Amino acid sequence: MTANELRQLYLDFFKSKGHAIIPSASLIPENDPTALFTTAGMHPLVPYLMGEKHPAGQRLVNCQKCIRTSDIDEVGDNRHLTFFEMLGNWSLGDPSTTFGASYFKKEAIEWSWKFLFDKKWLGMDPQRLYVTVFMGDKELGLASDEKSIKIWQECFKKNGITAEVCPYNTSIGGNRNYRIFPLPAKDNFWGPAGATGPCGPCTEMFYDVSPEKGALRKTFDEEMNAFRVMEVWNDVFMEFNKNSAGQYEKLSAQNVDTGMGLERTISVLNGKQDAFENELFYPLIQKIEELSGKKYGIKITSPQPSPFEGEGEDVTRAMRVIADHIKAATFILGDEKGLTPSNVGAGYVLRRLIRRAVRYGKQLGINEIFTFKVAEEVIKIYQDIYAELRKNKEFIVNQLVKEEEKFLETLEKGLKEFEKMKPKFTPLRPPFKKSGPIEYGWSGDDLFNLYSTYGFPIELSIEEMKKLYETFKDETGIGIVKLSKDDEERILHQFHEALQEHQELSRTASAGMFKGGLADASEETIKYHTAAHLMLAALRKVLGERVVQKGSNITPERLRFDFSHSEKMTAEQIKEVENIVNEQIQKDLPVVYEEMMLDEAKAAGAMGVFESKYGEKVKVYMIGDFSTSSKDNNIFSREICGGPHAQRTGMLGRFKITKEESSSAGVRRIKATLD
Ligand code: ALA
Repeated sequence: MTANELRQLYLDFFKSKGHAIIPSASLIPENDPTALFTTAGMHPLVPYLMGEKHPAGQRLVNCQKCIRTSDIDEVGDNRHLTFFEMLGNWSLGDPSTTFGASYFKKEAIEWSWKFLFDKKWLGMDPQRLYVTVFMGDKELGLASDEKSIKIWQECFKKNGITAEVCPYNTSIGGNRNYRIFPLPAKDNFWGPAGATGPCGPCTEMFYDVSPEKGALRKTFDEEMNAFRVMEVWNDVFMEFNKNSAGQYEKLSAQNVDTGMGLERTISVLNGKQDAFENELFYPLIQKIEELSGKKYGIKITSPQPSPFEGEGEDVTRAMRVIADHIKAATFILGDEKGLTPSNVGAGYVLRRLIRRAVRYGKQLGINEIFTFKVAEEVIKIYQDIYAELRKNKEFIVNQLVKEEEKFLETLEKGLKEFEKMKPKFTPLRPPFKKSGPIEYGWSGDDLFNLYSTYGFPIELSIEEMKKLYETFKDETGIGIVKLSKDDEERILHQFHEALQEHQELSRTASAGMFKGGLADASEETIKYHTAAHLMLAALRKVLGERVVQKGSNITPERLRFDFSHSEKMTAEQIKEVENIVNEQIQKDLPVVYEEMMLDEAKAAGAMGVFESKYGEKVKVYMIGDFSTSSKDNNIFSREICGGPHAQRTGMLGRFKITKEESSSAGVRRIKATLD
């Protein structure tokens, strides 16, 4: 079966069940500040899932182009994709009709079954199906999905298959009757697409991609992670809306939202185990082989032989990343919105995708401007389905060439700087010792500077260091010097520490953006940063001076804060902390900092969790009333911190604790918002 056939069959099937076919929406969401890209077929339908009437009716079906960047680090394995097509069908509940066009769990599951296994449709083998369902969550106040279990059992039974429920986290141990797997919210409660919106429990269909290996033995999680089963379809029962306070409110109507991954499904239908092994990727891989002179290869053995013979995992992974990222970039550039690479929001994601592909290209030894050549193949594959790619071809190619040139310039500058720093990188050995550990003249900060000043990626720094070390063998007289794995890890660790220390704010903002948060988040995150200082001081007043910060995570929407404390906070304590913080906000106190030596700062009673080194100059941020002469008595909060912060507390708005829970032994976690 081809991808074109699968798309058509899906639309035809649901059309025959009374669904209206609607077009794929733009990849860049309209009027939705909570996400940068369309991440699922339901995304453009949010207003209708929330109760608005859809002009095409209550049953809808389509094939939606999607971008997901939350799994970007997984891309390169056999199933994670940044760009993918999602086949989906929807039922929009309408509380005003007692009977009507909408449907819920029974029809959704039965139709999924029919489409997958009926000979007239996909004709897959039901003996190879395993399903997951939602096991409920006491803390969230959500019940387990018993109804879906019953419906699945009926479906299996009609096909002569006994389907038992396998208890959570239990080894399957070769029991072929274990077909239904209840899993927690992190696996089987879907959504919302952005920070807020419709969501609900889901049931996912997994297909055994290696039946020749016999019955499943490990836990379902383990089998999934070992790629033994591949998720192909997800039926979500959208009954809730997650509001901005993080609570789940029941929607007035019950909706169905389903999503089938086109690339994965077409692969498994053709006996492959890998979302890259289909005609939506083959021409891209072939082009990358041609450009690099290297061979793609898949380690895992497919029942159907792969047309590629491999050169191993690194090459394969790099080629997958390039194919995936350039495909995603081509679709983003080809979208009618005319988005271009930039340093904010969706443009920043686009930039990262292109630059990441270029870096992997370098790793494969491609030494020419090449991303547009891969894009031309993408356009050939998809232009009949997505006409915008043909229409915007020139724009796509021009933008890719421009961005690649820009990045190569950056790299060149970085390499020059690296060259200048070479003497620093020379490994030293104490001259009077014949052996012993090698000492190095650099620190992770040096590499961080290369990164922050010249945009030179850490991976390339390490590659350059490796090359450099090989050349030292004669000069040092100590034989070949290799950058050991331990050293490499140490460099990376130091680098990331430096990154954290110096770029706390922008890191938070860009990580948020990359995952689909607000585009221009800096002001909001700064306010939360200041609120965190007020809250720590308030916690210490209410719970005692033993309380110290254990970690924090800030997004433009909320603050998450971990601190040492062993009991659950009482409602009164929470209220008291809120009141104290809001009091400081109402006083509209100034936020100022002073630079001092670390020991001085500690002596002055400044709090600080960062691994500052002694003898280092640090910033101490203070929030308080400095108008009186005995200023020390009026300082509410004093923390060692890089900043930046709001100028005055009055800018923060109203502070509210939305959640208090255990994080780990002896550590509590608070989530809080500013309204
Ligand atoms: N919205 C659901 C998903 O993306 C169907 O998996």
